[in-house]
Amino acid sequence: MSELTESTIWRTLQSHFEQIKPLHMRNMFADDPARFERFSLHLDDLLFDFSKNRITGETIKLLCELAEHCDLADWIEKMFRGDAINHTEQRAVLHTALRNQNNNKIEVENQDVMPEVRAMLDKMRLFSEQIRSRHWRGYTNQPITDVVNIGVGGSDLGPLMASEALHSYALHDLKLHFVSNVDENHIGDTLESLKPETTLFIIASKSFTTQDTLVNARTARRWFLKRADDNAAIGKHFIAVSNNIEAAVEFGIHEDNIFKMWDWVGGRYSMWSAVGLSIAISIGMDNFEQMLKGAYQMDEHFRTTPFEQNIPVILALLGIWYNNFFNSQTYAILPYDQHLRYLPDYLRQADMESNGKRIDRNGHLVNYNTGPVAFGQLGITGQHAFYQLMHQGTKLIPADIIAPITNWQCIRSHHRVLMANVFAQTEAFMRGKTEQEAKAELEAEGVSAELMEVLLPNKIFPGNKPTNTILFNTLDPVSLGRLIAMYEHKFFVQGIIWNINSFDQWGVELGKQLAKTVLDELDGPEPTSAHDSSTNGLINYYKKMRPSNEPE
Ligand code: F6P
Repeated sequence: MSELTESTIWRTLQSHFEQIKPLHMRNMFADDPARFERFSLHLDDLLFDFSKNRITGETIKLLCELAEHCDLADWIEKMFRGDAINHTEQRAVLHTALRNQNNNKIEVENQDVMPEVRAMLDKMRLFSEQIRSRHWRGYTNQPITDVVNIGVGGSDLGPLMASEALHSYALHDLKLHFVSNVDENHIGDTLESLKPETTLFIIASKSFTTQDTLVNARTARRWFLKRADDNAAIGKHFIAVSNNIEAAVEFGIHEDNIFKMWDWVGGRYSMWSAVGLSIAISIGMDNFEQMLKGAYQMDEHFRTTPFEQNIPVILALLGIWYNNFFNSQTYAILPYDQHLRYLPDYLRQADMESNGKRIDRNGHLVNYNTGPVAFGQLGITGQHAFYQLMHQGTKLIPADIIAPITNWQCIRSHHRVLMANVFAQTEAFMRGKTEQEAKAELEAEGVSAELMEVLLPNKIFPGNKPTNTILFNTLDPVSLGRLIAMYEHKFFVQGIIWNINSFDQWGVELGKQLAKTVLDELDGPEPTSAHDSSTNGLINYYKKMRPSNEPE
């Protein structure tokens, strides 16, 4: 039995859950007109409304006691000051240092990391300005018009999500492209419209060993050299972001063109580092630094605010409430802004690679649910796709609904409809529709008694579906930085409560190892018998059926 589920506070929460379970939020709102004020928090223009959750004041009090029981405050300090809390890789976890705005030292092995961080930001500024101002010239003396970021996972999703989110700030005659899939169609389709003379490649790989990225990078280099026909030209067109300088140099990238990462920055937390170089090139370094400022604002809030008013802490504890007490297996991230369309993908990696763990910090198998399945899509698209299941299916799917109050264009006829949907959906999830209400509606429509019998059960919405609503003024670098940092801290808090290491990712290793072995087998002509019958059968079928004239 784990200490967590055996603790008094866990048991108290368990019996509290039994009291809360039968209650309907519709009645909670009816009984307490101040519920919204009681259960919403602000940080500047960010409003975090968590009143549409199946909670009372007592729930929040008990969940905060759980956080105290798990020494959350100590763990927060350990992270921010650079202790090696990623114990399986013996590393500090310091993405917060990348956006630190004060003059305090942050030490890793007695070495202040801040001078190196500032030097990296200076180098990013210099380089991005050269590209943006067209001072950086390619091998035929033309300016760069297209930047291709080649990376995968954290070396792709952060820049992809953020550059799309801040699209309104982008320099529009400079196009960004992202290649992550080793499927040749991804790089093939991307290169189709590009010219080597005006294209810059950023090879983003912390390890510089990720097979997908290296295969794509080699293809890009071949494509480039086919036209340039001069290895020296690579210096003008290939940049690396990596912790493995040696491998990047060996690939042919000039040392001056390598932006350093540190082992204390996890891949999925790395968009604040030089992994964000493509973001800086697109929106400019001043805006990139505003994004860091927004994140720092959330860091300070997280570090200094009592748990009951602490946005990431409450967000995380609500997640624990549904995951561990209501036993809900998933939650949805539903942004209502076209430019946030990659946010669910980004947060899915950040959450599931962080908290998809079953071994606790003491090396024991856990006996409780850890990380949930995170999924999502643009809210409006989801409404016409999977909200049906959320409203009337058999699963409890809590959701985060995220919407800026205004946007760059803010055309009234569009934006009012959008926001009307935001408010209507959160209300529908909470209230549902009772049998009485559904019946009255059908009667008003004049349906026959016969049809009434068929329709009525289908017209009832149980409601009582929890949502958090997150509103902020507009999607800009500051609000984006704040939003992402909020989620990072949410995942951190949950990892602490579950007593797992949120910062390693051993689970991705097995597939990688096996793929290496299989790759050798695919090259030979003879059938394989080294695996189970299914894997052998699949490999051998592929070998028999594949074209014999595949180009390199
Ligand atoms: O999929 C595992 C992973 O290690 C992620 O954590 C990481 O973001 C991604 O691969 C890419 O790794 P790298 O930046 O080292 O190429």
